[in-house]
Amino acid sequence: MKKTALALLLLLASGVAFGAGGYADLMKARVDVSDEASLQRGAALFTNLCISCHSAKYVRWNALPDALGVSMEMVEDNLIYGSYQEGNMMRAAMREADAERWFGAAAPDLSLTARSRGADWVYTYLNSFYRDPDASSGWNNTLLVNSSMPHVMWTLQGVPEAKFEEVGDEIQVAGIRVPEQQAGMLSEEEFHQATRDITNFMAFLAEPVRAKRQEIGVWVIGFLVIFTFLAYLLKREYWRDIH
Ligand code: HEC
Repeated sequence: MKKTALALLLLLASGVAFGAGGYADLMKARVDVSDEASLQRGAALFTNLCISCHSAKYVRWNALPDALGVSMEMVEDNLIYGSYQEGNMMRAAMREADAERWFGAAAPDLSLTARSRGADWVYTYLNSFYRDPDASSGWNNTLLVNSSMPHVMWTLQGVPEAKFEEVGDEIQVAGIRVPEQQAGMLSEEEFHQATRDITNFMAFLAEPVRAKRQEIGVWVIGFLVIFTFLAYLLKREYWRDIH
């Protein structure tokens, strides 16, 4: 019995590790969907830099005010480009067919990516672009090799260059770095924060009710603790006469 339980536990643990993507050296995104300031910054970056190509079509714009702690007017005025009608989904500005023609691949919908790929994967991906003169977009990515997405945040990060090494008879990227004379508007630390904010916003997109669920969870556990204590008092009361 004990052995079975242990085996089950191990299976579960390996399942979790597998679900997280199976990559050993992903950067840690440490997302926190209750951090409203981070979600606000992430939403601003996302709607400025990403939604021109990517949709988040399972999420309605009117889910944002609650999560970001702002009014719907703020969202309409600052985050939505183009016309908005009550209940609209977060659709991309670019048509899928155009994206396929221009980039060779349609930009995938990002509603669920933080869950399907994992937040750490998304965060690492956003930090893995480098200049590649051989690529058609002029950019490449160490995590998603030959990704057709251009490095849309290069004005922020600067232009990262890759260092190569030989592994066997293959040439692989050993590391990427932004040379000083190619620096962007943000320092390395600020760029990490910006990409973490975008990832955080995508974690919210993937599960818009998560912050609320965590909040409710605290109350449920509080209730259970109090209830257990009351049940204990009650039990003591009942048993007093029996002893
Ligand atoms: C110019 C269009 C364009 C813009 C702007 C753009 N992307 Fe992309 N993105 C793409 C394309 C095309 C792909 C598909 C890449 C591939 O599979 O080769 C992609 C892929 C991705 C993926 C990988 C998805 C997956 O599961 O494979 C993520 C994550 C992503 N983009 C995030 C972002 C974020 C965040 C932004 C804004 C900072 C952004 N993208 C801006 C075109 C774009």
